[in-house]
Amino acid sequence: MVRKTNKLELKISQIWFIPICLSLLAGCGEQPAQDRAVPEMPRFAEEQLAKGRGIWMGTCRNCHLLGISGAPAVTDSSAWATRIEKGKPALYRSALNGIKGDDDKYRMPPRGGNDRLKDEEVRQAVDYMIASVESLSDSN
Ligand code: HEC
Repeated sequence: MVRKTNKLELKISQIWFIPICLSLLAGCGEQPAQDRAVPEMPRFAEEQLAKGRGIWMGTCRNCHLLGISGAPAVTDSSAWATRIEKGKPALYRSALNGIKGDDDKYRMPPRGGNDRLKDEEVRQAVDYMIASVESLSDSN
């Protein structure tokens, strides 16, 4: 008797499993892999930062929203502290030229991999990211 019940339970659990699996698969393309809270990205009234937000959303967000492939995430203010200390010109240079690792491979490609971005747009995206890091850490 006990065995039969167990078998039945197994079947029910298998049936439930199918739609759950399917919905997980369907969500795969949109959902970030990590189970971390996705921050609401700040908006700024200042025109340069508003432009930077659009550029950031289009290119930089991919890595810097959650910190994909070793990128410092916008929410990680401690990871940004030492970088921000270098000053904006150094950060602009990194974003424009990319950053190579010890193996001489790009850890961040030049312009975040988007060659269509003008220098000024890359700088606006950097400004937006720094303003966001500061604003997100304030609200925590
Ligand atoms: C493909 C992933 C990727 C994309 C896209 C990307 N980054 Fe990065 N970024 C990284 C990684 C990884 C690092 C850390 C590299 C390191 O220090 O080793 C980084 C670091 C930085 C830094 C810190 C540089 C420093 O000198 O400390 C800035 C500024 C930056 N990114 C700006 C941008 C901007 C602006 C964009 C969009 C135009 C962008 N990133 C897009 C991966 C990315």
